[in-house]
Amino acid sequence: MKLFGNWSYPTAVRFGAGRISEIAEACKAAGITRPLLVTDKGLATMEITTRTLDLMEAAGLGRAMFSDVDPNPTDRNVAAGLKVYRDGGYDGVVAFGGGSGLDLGKTLAFMAGQTRPLWDFEDIGDWWSRADPAGIHPIVAVPTTAGTGSEVGRAGVITNSETYEKKIIFHPLMLPKVVICDPELTVGMPKFITAGTGLDAFAHCVEAYCSPHYHPMSQGIALEGMRLVKDYLPRAYADGTDLEARAHMMSAAAMGATAFQKGLGAIHALSHPIGAHYHTHHGTTNAVCMPAVLQFNRPAVEGVLAQAAAYLGIAGGFDGFAAYVDDLNTALGIPRTLTELGVKDPDLDILVRDALNDPSTSGNPVQMTAGNTRRLFEALL
Ligand SMILES: [Fe+2]
Repeated sequence: MKLFGNWSYPTAVRFGAGRISEIAEACKAAGITRPLLVTDKGLATMEITTRTLDLMEAAGLGRAMFSDVDPNPTDRNVAAGLKVYRDGGYDGVVAFGGGSGLDLGKTLAFMAGQTRPLWDFEDIGDWWSRADPAGIHPIVAVPTTAGTGSEVGRAGVITNSETYEKKIIFHPLMLPKVVICDPELTVGMPKFITAGTGLDAFAHCVEAYCSPHYHPMSQGIALEGMRLVKDYLPRAYADGTDLEARAHMMSAAAMGATAFQKGLGAIHALSHPIGAHYHTHHGTTNAVCMPAVLQFNRPAVEGVLAQAAAYLGIAGGFDGFAAYVDDLNTALGIPRTLTELGVKDPDLDILVRDALNDPSTSGNPVQMTAGNTRRLFEALL
């Protein structure tokens, strides 16, 4: 089967190996003539990035780049990037990278023509409607990992640099106009990033699937997304040049983010404050949290996860699914506890407070309280 296609769900996606060569056409289709490529410091000097800038320049689009992005992008990164963007007179963003480059790039395009401050657009109620849609610039998204799925999402996660809380900035027009999913861009990802990002995609699928909200489309996408991770993440981890595995993982990432419109849950509610305060890798932190959260949610999800196990060819219902997750974590070198992950002497009061304030909390199938959330953190340490 040739893993190549043009999709229009949930946005225009050009999927296939080598399709970064279409970056100039993608900008044109999005209405961008003067793009700013936004990525992170690590990617800024890598060959996949310079090659993309070469392609842009050859097409007369310039080779402007902003890469001053922390691993968890902050409001300070937004302010610095916005100054560069506005001073340079750019008319759109090429958001290039893993979660940090994609989320910062999307947020810069969103903020380009806004007059209100960033935190006015946090994903609370209808705050998104405060934005001036005419001031939102177009985005071409190019994922270079297979995890966040932010390329097909309508939000960006930005850390408040004063309170260390992760906030979601949301607007329907933050959905990129065009996405290039080129699995060749992920071939050079190191093993631990392949594992962590792949398990972020898995966490998106599992949490969306377990969320109690009614959204059968998401349910189907989440289930098949889990299957792709199960069949192809171990292959991508074992051999980073396995392009078929890389392609299916890139699809699984986009599927996870498409599915989690249905909701996330306690894995992300715990992982967000841990990442914001202790600067751990998002997907790896999710993976550490997942086994304990599955047990925590067991009373509500035993039946649906038994159905998922059956679809995935895992024997033993819920227990089989939980054992599979443990084995997958072990095979991919994921730490067993938050302590092993590097979280030392955490302030549990703050972690519990921030977890309960996290928007993912409302999607968890078991109600999270101060008491049970604290016990969950303690179990993970
Ligand atoms: Fe995530």
